[in-house]
Amino acid sequence: MNILVIGGAGYIGSHVTRELLDGGHRVTVFDNLSSGLRENLFPDASFVYGDILDYTGLLHVMRDGGFDALVHLAAFKAAGESMIKPEKYSVNNISGTINILNAAVENSIKYVVFSSSAAVFGEPRYLPIDERHPTEPENYYGFTKLEIERFLGWYEKLKGIRFVSLRYFNAAGYDVKGRIKGRELNPANLIPIIMEAAAGIRREVQVFGNDYDTPDGTCIRDYIHVSDLAAAHAKALDYISANGKSLTVNLGSETGTSVLEVIETARRITGKPIPVIIAGRRAGDAAKLTASAAYARSVIGWEARYSDMETLIRTSWDIYKGYIP
Ligand code: WQD
Repeated sequence: MNILVIGGAGYIGSHVTRELLDGGHRVTVFDNLSSGLRENLFPDASFVYGDILDYTGLLHVMRDGGFDALVHLAAFKAAGESMIKPEKYSVNNISGTINILNAAVENSIKYVVFSSSAAVFGEPRYLPIDERHPTEPENYYGFTKLEIERFLGWYEKLKGIRFVSLRYFNAAGYDVKGRIKGRELNPANLIPIIMEAAAGIRREVQVFGNDYDTPDGTCIRDYIHVSDLAAAHAKALDYISANGKSLTVNLGSETGTSVLEVIETARRITGKPIPVIIAGRRAGDAAKLTASAAYARSVIGWEARYSDMETLIRTSWDIYKGYIP
């Protein structure tokens, strides 16, 4: 298929682009490089510099590109920041996506794969979290993702869009073949922060709370390798092009790992001390979040292959050790 990957120069977007290219698809990356990196672009993919807030620009790219499908990963994703600057997330995440959907309708592009998030669930009512779990986001970022899923449902009803919304749990790791090396700038997520401490880019890791109701007192999360996420996007496109139906799917490893366990694994693999400071809890953090991936397994034939903590840390360190000052 001929696919437009919106946000394809980003951390996850570049892994999705690589996966689609390896699968024989034609890919055009559309990105404003606000957090995406030029070094994440591939010679075998076209690149269009543009912004999802530029409706005319989107129309022209889609008009000229003859695309069969869109993959939309362009969004601000810092949960904490979204509670301080919701307006920034309203404009970029929601208005930007409305532009994409309207331009897609104008250009008769029916298939949309959307990068959603486990943040749509909020505080877990039960674990592991499956697709039937209530969606009560606790931060504005998660709210924007849930609202976009609702827009997709209406555009399916009224305009014949067929979508797959992929609810990522905690994305981590790097391409096992080392083809993607871009380091996220100012990361908010645990594993890149641990990698920066291991590489000496930052002095220590703050552990946000060690008094949770978990075995070692620190939060447990479901870390999923970005290459496994990328494979799910390719399978999602295969699904909608073959079945013409829409889906909403959780993507996780189904394994929970605590903050301290991640840090210990990183110390062992990197051989670095990785100093830690125990800080207070971070607002909005749940003690434990793990996914059920049963639906993804059964409907799109997806299975996590690289999401063990060893591989997540090793592939990350393969990149970050290159940044040791
Ligand atoms: C993981 C754990 C922190 C940093 C968020 C979004 C979610 C998804 C993934 C996009 C938590 C702890 C973290 C640090 C720490 N993003 N931590 N010290 O919050 O589970 O999920 O990112 O889709 O939507 O909500 O990920 O990596 O920020 O935190 O102790 O310096 O690590 O408290 O328990 P989170 P995270």
